[in-house]
Amino acid sequence: MKRLPFIAGNWKMNKTVEESLDLVRGLKVSLQGIEDVEVAIAPPFTALYPVSQELKGSSIHLASQNLFWEEKGAFTGEISPMMLKEIHCQYAIIGHSERRQYFGETDETVNRRIKAALRYDLKVIFCIGETLNEREEGKTFSVIERQVEGGLKGLGEKEARDIVIAYEPVWAIGTGKTATPQQAQEAHRFIRQKIERLYSGGISEGIRIQYGGSVTPENSKGLMNQEDIDGALVGGASLNAESFSRIVRFKEI
Ligand code: 13P
Repeated sequence: MKRLPFIAGNWKMNKTVEESLDLVRGLKVSLQGIEDVEVAIAPPFTALYPVSQELKGSSIHLASQNLFWEEKGAFTGEISPMMLKEIHCQYAIIGHSERRQYFGETDETVNRRIKAALRYDLKVIFCIGETLNEREEGKTFSVIERQVEGGLKGLGEKEARDIVIAYEPVWAIGTGKTATPQQAQEAHRFIRQKIERLYSGGISEGIRIQYGGSVTPENSKGLMNQEDIDGALVGGASLNAESFSRIVRFKEI
């Protein structure tokens, strides 16, 4: 089965509203005519609404970087899936390692957020990945397996169809130390096999698995050429229209 490549830009805590709009305007020009790759961007919360207005009529999808699982109420500082849906977000990034590392996110809270997103018809970019310590201790696969099981707990086949998995080894994020295409492929294959054990109905063949961690225009093609790598979740290189669009146009390199 042919899976549509999916490149997403995670802007993290970068860009004011004005800077976000500048970048989106640049992307609309540099990504014109792109049809065979799905593209999404995840600006910070303050910029989501203005960016959604700027994206009207464009094929670039909008993603949030997180969400809370309740619809509304006394949850100071949180944003609900309903609010994101209202401003035309199509995706939510959930379980990013920075959320796990700095903000106490666990497999269980990731699972609650994923369920809430799907309830509101938001598709999910579900992030997993091992730390350097875990890799060096030979625990990469057991960590990934635990994260996949925990994050997807209680989700049926229908829900699994709205999930994209992002494999982001923590040691490769923001470090310039990209996983080699072979290292990434090995982990992606393992994840797909795990999905195959969890779901039937062609889910494992159809599910897209992005790689994340120091993706650049220079290394994107080699990664994307791997059988089980279906896209990229890009941090630093997504903050600039030229480098992000070169990654999206990996086929032309
Ligand atoms: P970098 O591309 O900056 O390494 O970040 C990757 C990432 O965390 C995307 O979510």
